[in-house]
Amino acid sequence: MAYRIGVVGGDGIGPEVVAEGLKVMSAAGVELETVDYDLGGARYLRDQTVLPDSVLEEWRSLDAIYVGAVGDPAVPPGVIERGLLLKMRFELDLYINLRPFKLDASDDGPGHDFVVIRENTEGTYAGEGGLLRKGTPYEVATQGSVNTRMGVERAVRYGFELAATRNSHLTLAHKTNVLNFSGDLWQRTFNEVAEEHPNIETAYNHVDAACIYFVQDPQRYDVVVTDNLFGDILTDLGGAVSGGIGLASSANLNPDRTAPSMFEPVHGSAPDIAGQNKANPIAAILSAAMMLEFLGADASAPNAEVVEAGARIRSACDACTDMTGSTTEIGDAVAAKL
Ligand code: NAI
Ligand code: MG
Repeated sequence: MAYRIGVVGGDGIGPEVVAEGLKVMSAAGVELETVDYDLGGARYLRDQTVLPDSVLEEWRSLDAIYVGAVGDPAVPPGVIERGLLLKMRFELDLYINLRPFKLDASDDGPGHDFVVIRENTEGTYAGEGGLLRKGTPYEVATQGSVNTRMGVERAVRYGFELAATRNSHLTLAHKTNVLNFSGDLWQRTFNEVAEEHPNIETAYNHVDAACIYFVQDPQRYDVVVTDNLFGDILTDLGGAVSGGIGLASSANLNPDRTAPSMFEPVHGSAPDIAGQNKANPIAAILSAAMMLEFLGADASAPNAEVVEAGARIRSACDACTDMTGSTTEIGDAVAAKL
């Protein structure tokens, strides 16, 4: 039975890179039934639609959602981010944002291979706060950080479980020395869950120090778990030290599978190169590989063939990361290796 996938090409280079992802999955022999959704900045500018509840309800019956990029410079900040991306994460409870970073060894360095788990539903992105006396000289803005034991614990647990399938090392990145309330909850939760995983070696980095290590010594990492805001920033840095934004893939997971998970490249709609067949589609293709691996790993309906197709796509991409060429040329080259 074919998986049913919702596809949001979105804006700018989004539809261009998603087309390559779909092409490559098909070349890998994966049968998908796709449902297209016209959402994003362009749609908002046309009729003010962001993400209707009816669409969200429809999505609940899908197996996964594949997104290119959404965002248009003409749309006021926050409309699409909060109304579409964050709404999707919160409503579908996509509480794990998984971002792998890999760089092969070369003359420039030893290379690295690590994954960042960003808590995806809480922290400063939860929308807590407000404006008082807006527009006056006495204006006050607050933006609180929401950290629940449940939310922190499920992210931390995911970190330990993922580390157990990799090199058994998990780092917590936070700022416990200054954020003494949220940091305390994160650190205590981390320490408690660690007791259940004696085979996982643990480490702690202040997030500012982690920025240094991401650049100077990323080999120290296997799995990193962190909060929503720190994860957002750290993963852009992770992308920058791992071959660039054109290669950075991500999964927004609901590991309990109570709703479909969402897969998208880390990059945005890149209006500066949109429509020119210039965007690197590898990030979107690797995100598609993550989607197949997650779908096939469903314990209630395991599909080894689909997991294996994801792995084949990943190695085909690995062989094309140094390639220069147009969006379609790179997509064709990856497809040809399958
Ligand atoms: P961006 O990621 O779109 O672009 C940053 C720079 O990276 C640009 O110079 C762009 O040309 C380049 N770039 C991005 N992806 C590339 C690729 N695949 N191949 C080659 N070069 C690539 O970030 P920016 O400019 O800050 O945002 C543009 C729009 O995208 C905004 O509206 C923003 O809100 C939205 N955005 C959406 C995201 C999403 O859908 N998850 C994530 C980040 C931004
Ligand atoms: Mg970001």
